[in-house]
Amino acid sequence: MNKIIYLDAAATYQKSESVIRTEIDFLTRNYANAGRGICARAVAVDDMVARSRARVAAFLNARTDQIVFTAGTTDAMNMVANMVQMSARTKLLVSDIDHHSARLPFVHRLQARAGVVGICPLDDMMNIDVNNIPYADVFVITAMSNVLGMPQDVAQIVRAARQKNPNVITIVDAAQFVVHNKIDVREWDCDFVCWSGHKIGADTGVGVLYIKNPEDFQPVKFGGGMVNKIQDNNIVWNLPPDVYEAGTLPLTQIAGLAQAIDELVQNRPSLDLIKYAYDELQKIERVKLLTQRDAAVLTFVVDDMHILDFGTLMGAREVCLRVGNMCASWIFKLMGFDGAIRMSVGAYNTIDDVKYFVKSVKEIVK
Ligand SMILES: Cc1ncc(COP(=O)(O)O)c(C=O)c1O
Repeated sequence: MNKIIYLDAAATYQKSESVIRTEIDFLTRNYANAGRGICARAVAVDDMVARSRARVAAFLNARTDQIVFTAGTTDAMNMVANMVQMSARTKLLVSDIDHHSARLPFVHRLQARAGVVGICPLDDMMNIDVNNIPYADVFVITAMSNVLGMPQDVAQIVRAARQKNPNVITIVDAAQFVVHNKIDVREWDCDFVCWSGHKIGADTGVGVLYIKNPEDFQPVKFGGGMVNKIQDNNIVWNLPPDVYEAGTLPLTQIAGLAQAIDELVQNRPSLDLIKYAYDELQKIERVKLLTQRDAAVLTFVVDDMHILDFGTLMGAREVCLRVGNMCASWIFKLMGFDGAIRMSVGAYNTIDDVKYFVKSVKEIVK
């Protein structure tokens, strides 16, 4: 077999031919900068960006002025951490299902002000415990852990946090959630949502930041495209979303993003493949599964075998998996492991891919 069995969509999704074609078309036939020209081609690029933004807005049930293009989840989280007010008295709430990208920008900023970080309790199934949400001024909510793959009830979590503090700022990391579930930001009613294009089949370098009240915040990046007027020291910003998009946008990736969204809503990854693998791996004595059967990913360890050795042996069989702490060290600390092996699927994966994966696991673990 010389075909790679790629089972690592949760790290980054393979790109479809039509996403690639959309980007090639843009690069070869329609390329120009946005927001900077008046020739027909530059105007067409502005239209393309506006169409993509409208596609993202419809995808999330948001308005277009609430949609900011970023470089990805990490970039968006760093932006938001600099947009929200934090002082030594701020009660920042995070949870142990967070990815480093979601928690660290906020923790870093708060620690610079000597503030204290609170950890939101998880229930027995390692979901955010909606019945025990502490008071928070700023709450980072991971909508789906990249290790455990369970969707969190974001609307209920936001409501519970508001009962403790009506002014709490809620920031949702939807990097994994968006792949498998519909997002309705009006239903969630949170203040910010962040996700990355590359996890849904778009290119790297583009992401989305939803801001519920974009007029209420100040820009944290400065440069071209976000200024309306400069008169001596008097600077007038552009309106949202432009004010949050300093500099040249990742135009090619924005073109591909709209195409990737169209495809994702038509064809989400089949979690039956995960269930099949779960049922098969459960029969292997040395395999310890860390995820539930209905999770969006399959995470496991093997008794008496280092995860890196296992990953190397799978790699030698051309099976691509994620191995390590997956930038989510807190959940591993809680579970008592240094890391694990994760299998995840895109809409392009087939049952044959998963059967080959299972066969390879059995051969290695026997
Ligand atoms: C839950 C979660 N949050 C944030 C990120 C960071 O995404 P990116 O590296 O695209 O910024 C990831 C990526 O693995 C993730 O799975």
